[in-house]
Amino acid sequence: MSRSHGKTSTRNQKPTSASSRTALSNESANTENSAHTENSAHTENSVKLEHAGELVLLDGADDPVVENFLRLKTKLSHGQLASFKTLIVTSPIPGDGKSTVSMNLALAFATNAEAPTILIDCDLRRPSLRQWMRPYPKRGLLGVLDGEYPLTSALHRVAGSSLHILPTTHGISDPVRTLTSSRFSQLLSVIKQSYSRVLIDTPPIVPFPDADALGSLVDGSILVLRSRKTPKHLYIRALESMQSAPILGTVLNGASKNFLDKGHHEGSYYYDYYRKKQ
Ligand SMILES: Nc1ncnc2c1ncn2[C@@H]1O[C@H](COP(=O)(O)OP(=O)(O)OP(=O)(O)O)[C@@H](O)[C@H]1O
Ligand SMILES: [Mg+2]
Repeated sequence: MSRSHGKTSTRNQKPTSASSRTALSNESANTENSAHTENSAHTENSVKLEHAGELVLLDGADDPVVENFLRLKTKLSHGQLASFKTLIVTSPIPGDGKSTVSMNLALAFATNAEAPTILIDCDLRRPSLRQWMRPYPKRGLLGVLDGEYPLTSALHRVAGSSLHILPTTHGISDPVRTLTSSRFSQLLSVIKQSYSRVLIDTPPIVPFPDADALGSLVDGSILVLRSRKTPKHLYIRALESMQSAPILGTVLNGASKNFLDKGHHEGSYYYDYYRKKQ
């Protein structure tokens, strides 16, 4: 991400469920479906993030983009926004940079080791956080929800960082059903108890209902726009589509300093894109 640029603006809405950090919990979610949810934030899995140009926070350099992410983190950590602990990252259409921004922002939050941070891949259509993880994760969210193994074994700590990632290892065909299940909400409740910050990567909100379906379980959302790419009318559609959680701000991804975007219309591009890659 060479020219990313983060700006937030509050919408003065109260968080739906600000989660307070408690001592690491061994609580098992009381779920009928017996998903393994016993939890502590300890995990034996350590992963390296494969270096990619867009993961600017890995460099820790004095790149202005790093500064922007740290500034965004600071904005989200102070004042009224500080109470919004569990956040969805979404965008209007595919490829706006949701996953890239999620990962960078999570790494930025994790620079404060006092405030345990987790990034969860809830793009169950086309999970992508795993692309950066080495070794490639074999365990993730879906296996925990299916009761195949405990949460702790699916958590991955990023080497050199306090960030934990709960990846998703494969796509599924009915993600909304999973994301609105009691197993999922109970698992998320358990996770919230162990982390100060929970970031959730999601699919694009204009073509898919997933991010809005998650909204009632989180405190707020962040909308990513891609400079010179996200069409303005789809930005508006995205604002309208996010009904269930306040949008805390937008991140303009890939903007140059003097950027004044009027948007580009690309027709049905995003539907085709999904069809191609699935
Ligand atoms: N600021 C940037 N500069 C250059 N490349 C970028 C930037 N942000 C993202 N990319 C690249 O654009 C592509 C899409 O980014 P990413 O996967 O983060 O988008 P996404 O919104 O999560 O996509 P999807 O909707 O498919 O999940 C990736 O190849 C990523 O490396
Ligand atoms: Mg993505």
